[in-house]
Amino acid sequence: MTATSAFAALFGRAPAAGAEAPGRANLIGEHTDYNGGFVLPTPIPLLARVELAPRTDNHVLAVSADLGAPGEVVEYELGKESPGRGWIDHVQGLTRALRAAGHEVCGFEMRIASCIPPGAGLSSSAAVGVALLRALREAFGLVLAPLDLARLVQGAESEFTGARVGIMDPLACSVARAGTALFLDTRELTFEHIPLPAAAELAVVHSGVSHRHAGGGYNVRRAECERAAGLLGVRELRDVVEDDMPRVAALPEPLQRRVRHVVSENVRVLAAVEALRRGDLPELGRLFLASHASQRDDFEVSIPETDLLVELAAEEAGVHGARLTGGGFGGSVVILADEGTAARAAASVAAAYAERSGRRPQVLLPEDRRAAA
Ligand code: GLA
Repeated sequence: MTATSAFAALFGRAPAAGAEAPGRANLIGEHTDYNGGFVLPTPIPLLARVELAPRTDNHVLAVSADLGAPGEVVEYELGKESPGRGWIDHVQGLTRALRAAGHEVCGFEMRIASCIPPGAGLSSSAAVGVALLRALREAFGLVLAPLDLARLVQGAESEFTGARVGIMDPLACSVARAGTALFLDTRELTFEHIPLPAAAELAVVHSGVSHRHAGGGYNVRRAECERAAGLLGVRELRDVVEDDMPRVAALPEPLQRRVRHVVSENVRVLAAVEALRRGDLPELGRLFLASHASQRDDFEVSIPETDLLVELAAEEAGVHGARLTGGGFGGSVVILADEGTAARAAASVAAAYAERSGRRPQVLLPEDRRAAA
């Protein structure tokens, strides 16, 4: 059944609007976005799709093809959004944020279908949020620029679901272009699309351990960064420079390691951008591995499963480096390989990982073309 006919089977009419947004793999620059720093995500060909049709009342009837109890209609009334209801919170948060920002929407019926697994560190919720806002923009004639979409999604996530996320994911889902990496300065909100070298190929392998951001270690890390910035007397950790490192070393643990990660990661993003421009894959691979070590040892967001995936990837022929991507505490690794070798390397890593960890990994990229054919 096509998405449109699935919508018609649920709601008895065709959708009036439909939109998509991609997930993302962050190449480097982890936990820097809420510190005013630099990030380098790239869109992945896994999409979230939303279809909807306006109603004449204030009720939202929503169905997810993949989340919660798939196919079940979940309902709420605009103006009476209340958190704690699972995946629908992402929708409720957005309608509340939209109306608070003065955009006029009435009720609607909607269906979400997403190929981005939740908790894989690939921005599944921001992709749904951006796709939903694009569909609402089309259905209700809203005036929303790509940056507005990203800000609304970030605000809704922080205020409604309680995950105090940064701007990277919704901005990547909203403006990133296939085949390029988005070099984003999260303080200035300026960005540049940097082409990925033709000689490079990416793989993404999910550890099979899903994370949850709301209320988890993510918010703890963010609070640690804010505390460290306060103790150092800077607005954000972005403002800490090499010369400040003696003062950083005097901070109590674990704050000094948290700062060391953010400062060194920002430097690595800038170096990665230069390596990308030169097409220097070995250097990019070294930066991936150094970033992973920093996430593991200093920021402590990796878990043994993602460490194992990175270790196994680094042993593969044609692989330059690998690292945990996304918020951590589970999720996926991104692998940088020579063109034409990513599928074989990812399959071999996944097989060895399954055997050693007892987990069920998923190769999410490159997509299995045989399966799609
Ligand atoms: C999650 C958040 C992002 C970012 C990353 C870590 O994906 O949504 O804002 O902080 O974690 O880099």
